Amino acid sequence: MDSVTRTFLRAAMRLDESAETFDRALEGVQATQTKHDAALKKLLDLVKTHETKWDPKDRAAMNSLGARLSVHRRALDKQLAQLGQERKGYAREKAVFAEISDLYASRLAAQSTTDDIRQTREAGLCRVVNRLIYDGWPMRASGAVPDVGFETPKGSHGYITLDLPRFLNFMVELDRLLAADPDFDVPDERYRPVRYLEIGSGPGRNLIIARESRIVNFESVSGFDINPDLIERGHRLGLETELFVGDALEQDYGGYDVVYSFRPFSDMELQERLEARMVETMDQGAYIIAPLPYDLDLYPQTRRVSDTAEIWKKVA
Ligand SMILES: C[S@@+](CC[C@H](N)C(=O)[O-])C[C@H]1O[C@@H](n2cnc3c(N)ncnc32)[C@H](O)[C@@H]1O
Repeated sequence: MDSVTRTFLRAAMRLDESAETFDRALEGVQATQTKHDAALKKLLDLVKTHETKWDPKDRAAMNSLGARLSVHRRALDKQLAQLGQERKGYAREKAVFAEISDLYASRLAAQSTTDDIRQTREAGLCRVVNRLIYDGWPMRASGAVPDVGFETPKGSHGYITLDLPRFLNFMVELDRLLAADPDFDVPDERYRPVRYLEIGSGPGRNLIIARESRIVNFESVSGFDINPDLIERGHRLGLETELFVGDALEQDYGGYDVVYSFRPFSDMELQERLEARMVETMDQGAYIIAPLPYDLDLYPQTRRVSDTAEIWKKVA
């Protein structure tokens, strides 16, 4: 919590405390006033019923009521003085709170402007990156990607990219998890460099982002796709050795530390089969990043390891 928020909360607490103290003082005044009024009423009733004749018992009662009245009067005077103090204290805290909450409100407004600017800037950068990768990236070979007339198999999704900020969030969260994971502990580094495999990578935009952003320390990045056109395009983006054509349902996922898969299948049964295969063939200790999975909590071998991102670890 930053210092402005702390100051604001402290001022709110002090205002609340002084309001309570003021209330208590007011209740005290009201209680004494009630007693005072009751004693006065009794005294007046006594006076009214004994306008002429006073016997000693009535005089004694009158004296006792008079004494009680002056005790209440003195207590009231004291309590009213105290109430005046509490009122002043409350007014002071109220003024301080008003000042601090103005400061806090302008700080929040400034913060939200900064967030808006950051988001607009991030979105702009993401557009540029996508454009650079797909249109402006220096081609290793000239000519268009050969059209082999590939038809997306039934039950498979075509190439729909995960939005870049979300992919980068996965990288940030993965880095945090690896740094805290004893399985990846090595001396003098945050963690040992990790091997990344992407299922349904298309031309490998995420591979480029994963490697070049350097958020995670990767030893290698690789990916495959069932669509050879996309893989060919990726080869032309410079990912000759990283990308290969393959079917997700036939791969062996051993030998990688991180397997990323964003819904290659629209068909639930195929997606479930893929996840079962991943869990079965992956190395123990490896991570799965899977936006929109079928259900990776189904397996006793997997445990979700992030509250904020769809990341699991094969723990058994
Ligand atoms: C939703 S896109 C994901 C794109 C990219 N991985 C991302 O996250 O930005 C799904 C990809 O899976 C590929 N795919 C579909 N069925 C496949 C299969 N059986 N084996 C390998 N890739 C497949 C599609 O060609 C497509 O490129």
